Amino acid sequence: MNLRLATADDAAAILAIYAPIVRDTAISFELVPPEPHEMARRIAAGQDLAPWVVAEVEGAVRAYAYATVFRARPAYRWTLETAVYVAAGARGRGLGRSLYARLLELLRAQGFLQAVGGITLPNPASVRLHESLGFRSVGTFPDVGFKLGAWHAVGFWAKDLAAHGSAPAEPQAFASFRASPELARILAPPS
Ligand SMILES: CC(C)(COP(=O)(O)OP(=O)(O)OC[C@H]1O[C@@H](n2cnc3c(N)ncnc32)[C@H](O)[C@@H]1OP(=O)(O)O)[C@@H](O)C(=O)NCCC(=O)NCCS
Repeated sequence: MNLRLATADDAAAILAIYAPIVRDTAISFELVPPEPHEMARRIAAGQDLAPWVVAEVEGAVRAYAYATVFRARPAYRWTLETAVYVAAGARGRGLGRSLYARLLELLRAQGFLQAVGGITLPNPASVRLHESLGFRSVGTFPDVGFKLGAWHAVGFWAKDLAAHGSAPAEPQAFASFRASPELARILAPPS
């Protein structure tokens, strides 16, 4: 397994993982899979703030994870919403955990203090993944989204990445953090 930053050129491979989730499940509340150019835009634009990372197995992208704004008002800026998706044929082999753990480490290194995962319920694999990485359930919105003919609840899980303190330093945007040697260290394979 090789972990690296995503580029806009990974849009098609990422869509191959994400499009069936949009089409066939309520895991994502998007209704129509984005076009490749839109996915490329999301990857490129998203990395101004926080990384998109991919896991390759035998040279093919089999999982991706990223973080986005949790809520736009500026007092929320130490908190990001995180997400991870593993290709259907590659689940249950530790890929999601390895990749998501590295994403969280990158966010901590940037100075973000909290990660939040929103999970359409039920999703035992995602709940287990989050809890095993130290996320704690903070509440559920019942019947908050309607998709594929049914209402769905979304639970939120939160994890402190570092102590919050009374005078938190500003998080570093990924656009400048990506030049840091910390990036290669965090994404390096375990020795
Ligand atoms: C959720 C998902 C990312 C997990 O990634 P994965 O590579 O399959 O999971 P891993 O093999 O790394 O396992 C992580 C943990 O979840 C547990 N797990 C994996 N699949 C499970 C399942 N079907 N039911 C219950 N637990 C499961 C593992 O035992 C492991 O627990 P541990 O850390 O205590 O040992 C993956 O299943 C997926 O992409 N699902 C569809 C998309 C999705 O739901 N994304 C999350 C959106 S909130």
